[in-house]
Amino acid sequence: MIKDYMRKDLADFRPYHSPLKPYQVKIDANENPYAHSDQVIAKIQEWVQNKDNLTRYPDTDINALREKLSEIHKVDKDEVICTVGSDQLIELIIKVFVEPGEVALVPNPSFSMYTLSTVLNHGKAVPYELDDDFNYDYEALISAYKLCQPKLVFICTPNNPTGNKAAIEDMIQVLDTVKCPVIVDEAYEEFIGESMMQYIDQYPQLIVLRTFSKAYGIAGLRIGYGVANKEMIDMIGVAKPPYNVSSFSQAVAGFILDDIDYYKEQVKTISSNRDQLMKDLESKEVIERVYPSSANFILVKVKDDQLTEYLANQQMLVRGYNNVGRLAHHIRITVGTEEENRQLLSLLDTYKL
Ligand SMILES: Cc1ncc(COP(=O)(O)O)c(C=O)c1O
Repeated sequence: MIKDYMRKDLADFRPYHSPLKPYQVKIDANENPYAHSDQVIAKIQEWVQNKDNLTRYPDTDINALREKLSEIHKVDKDEVICTVGSDQLIELIIKVFVEPGEVALVPNPSFSMYTLSTVLNHGKAVPYELDDDFNYDYEALISAYKLCQPKLVFICTPNNPTGNKAAIEDMIQVLDTVKCPVIVDEAYEEFIGESMMQYIDQYPQLIVLRTFSKAYGIAGLRIGYGVANKEMIDMIGVAKPPYNVSSFSQAVAGFILDDIDYYKEQVKTISSNRDQLMKDLESKEVIERVYPSSANFILVKVKDDQLTEYLANQQMLVRGYNNVGRLAHHIRITVGTEEENRQLLSLLDTYKL
C-alpha cells in the first residue's frame, strides 16, 4: 500500500481545507473587508501592461520592498526578510532552529500554524496555557521554558483568536529570561500600534513577524515579512526558497506602502466598528460572553453550537471551533463593513435558542 511509505507520525493528519461554502458575507478569516485605493488599482493596471513583469522570475532578494519596509520601520534592509505569507516565515524559522524531537513552546489557545508547522518539521509543540480569561500567563510561559528547554518560543499579539494583546513590559521580561529565539507574531499590530520591533538590537533572539494579509488587504497575494537583527535574518534565509515571493506580490505590497495613509484610515474605521460591534454583540441573547479585542476580530462564547451552521446557511461565514479544547463553544467573528456588521446583528436577532 502506498500509504505504508508515508511518515508514520503523519498518518492521522488530514490536508488543510478551508470550507468553500457559498457566501454573501465572509467574516471568518480576519481579512480587510474594504476595497483598495484608486492609486493602488491604477498602479496594478499599469504594472500588468509590462510583459517582463510576468515573464521574468521575481527578484529573489525582494530588494525594493525590503528597502521600503526598512525605511518605514527604521531598521536596516538586512534586518528584513519577506516570505509567502507569514505562514512561510513560521515554517522557515522552525526548519532552521528545531531538530527532530526538539520543542517549540506555543501559546494555547492561539494560531494553529505554530503547532502544525512544528510537527510537520519533526519537532514537538508544547503548549503553555493562557489564563481562564485567555490573557497571557507569563509565569506559565517561564516555567514551561525552564522545564522544556525549548528551541523556540512563540508569542502572538494581539493573539488570534482571543483578541487580547501582550504587554510590552511583560514581553521584555520574557526576553530577559528566555535565551532561545522568541517569535513575536504581530500579524494584527496595525490595530494596536504597539510593536516589539524597536527591541531587535537589544535582544538578538527576537524575531517580529508581520503580514500584508490583514490590515493591508492582500491575503490573496500571500506576503508576510519578519524583522530581526542581521545575524538572525541570515540564519532564517538559509531555508528561504529562491524566488519565493511572486513579482506581483512584491509590486502590490510596494504600491500599498506608497499609499499607506489610505490603509491607516481603513484601520481606524475597522477599529471603531469593532468597538461598536463588541457593544452590540453583548446584548444578543445567543451570545454568552464577548472577549475584549485589540484586533480586527472578536471572540465570543455562544450558548448554542448550531449558530455557526445557522449563519452559514444564511451565507454568512464565521469561524467556529468544532467543539474541541479550550475553544469549544466559541466563535471568532471578523469585523466586516458597517453593512455586514448590521446583517450579522440582525441574523443574531432572528436566531431562536
Ligand atoms: C496570528 C497570525 N499569524 C500569521 C498568520 C498568517 O498570515 P499570512 O496570511 O501572512 O500567512 C495569521 C493568519 O490568520 C495569523 O492570524
